[in-house]
Amino acid sequence: MPADRAAETGRPPASYVTRVLGEVPCQPGVPKPDAILIATDVHRQFGGLTAVDVAHLEVQRGSITALIGPNGAGKTTLFNLLTGFDRPDTGQWTFNGESIARMPAHRVARSGMVRTFQLTKVLSRLTVLENMRLAAPHQIGEEVYAAVLPFLWRRQERIVTDKAMRLLRQFNLAEKAQDFAGSLSGGQRKLLEMARALMTDPVMVMLDEPMAGVNPALTQSLLAHIRDLRESGMTVLFVEHDMDMVRDISDWVVVMAQGQIIAEGPPASVMADARVIDAYLGAHHDRPLTADGQSLTRADAEVSSP
Ligand SMILES: Nc1ncnc2c1ncn2[C@@H]1O[C@H](COP(=O)(O)OP(=O)(O)OP(=O)(O)O)[C@@H](O)[C@H]1O
Ligand SMILES: [Mg+2]
Repeated sequence: MPADRAAETGRPPASYVTRVLGEVPCQPGVPKPDAILIATDVHRQFGGLTAVDVAHLEVQRGSITALIGPNGAGKTTLFNLLTGFDRPDTGQWTFNGESIARMPAHRVARSGMVRTFQLTKVLSRLTVLENMRLAAPHQIGEEVYAAVLPFLWRRQERIVTDKAMRLLRQFNLAEKAQDFAGSLSGGQRKLLEMARALMTDPVMVMLDEPMAGVNPALTQSLLAHIRDLRESGMTVLFVEHDMDMVRDISDWVVVMAQGQIIAEGPPASVMADARVIDAYLGAHHDRPLTADGQSLTRADAEVSSP
């Protein structure tokens, strides 16, 4: 966001976020100067497997924060917990100063935190526009009294449709508005999911592997959309395996392994961290990490699997 626009909106410009985070020590669980999300002791067990065991995590307001880690590290499970799609065994977290732990997903969304899914959840037999309209927050048309005052819900419908079309244009999907969502390519579904999440005017968006399955032609436009979210004042937390993308757009990177946060920092420092390189980014990236940063051998991994 240009500095003058930032002054108009009262939001911190991206350069400010980068500078402020540049002064934060690179330690797992480190406090942030202006955290929008603060989670403590979040634990989720599936039978004998500890999927999430996060001692402390803070996400800086207005930042693009990447959550990386090998397959099975617990990234999606952490997203599910924070957004009310799963319940933790223990854990407390606040969003924008309000405790939202154990709140059902629709209330979390209403409080301003929305997420997309690793496997998209667009409704194939509805049109693209219908998918968008369904995501609109509580509509007057649902109220009984609106049945008696049809002009009220017609007006509401028009507002929702205008907003949906505006977002679809922004995401280059306007021409597909009347097509079934099932006819979209994988990449277009990802775009639709992101556009749909924005129907609720969120404060924070959590994207689970937004680039997975997206063809290279769409990659740059998705990256630009994510940057735009930050420019418009939103906080973005996203899970991604593509390290070029992480390096390209993140202000801060959090590394998870075996349910725990094992490293944090600006992209350049995290990617230069010997433990992260050795066990995740380097030659052994297909091996799971341990909390002390040692990569396991495949035989170790099989023994430690449930
Ligand atoms: N509902 C469930 N029941 C049992 N085990 C589960 C469940 N959901 C996740 N797990 C297990 O919890 C661990 C963490 O899974 P999760 O999907 O959170 O990992 P991830 O970091 O998102 O991995 P990926 O990068 O492959 O998406 C894995 O071992 C997974 O098999
Ligand atoms: Mg996942």
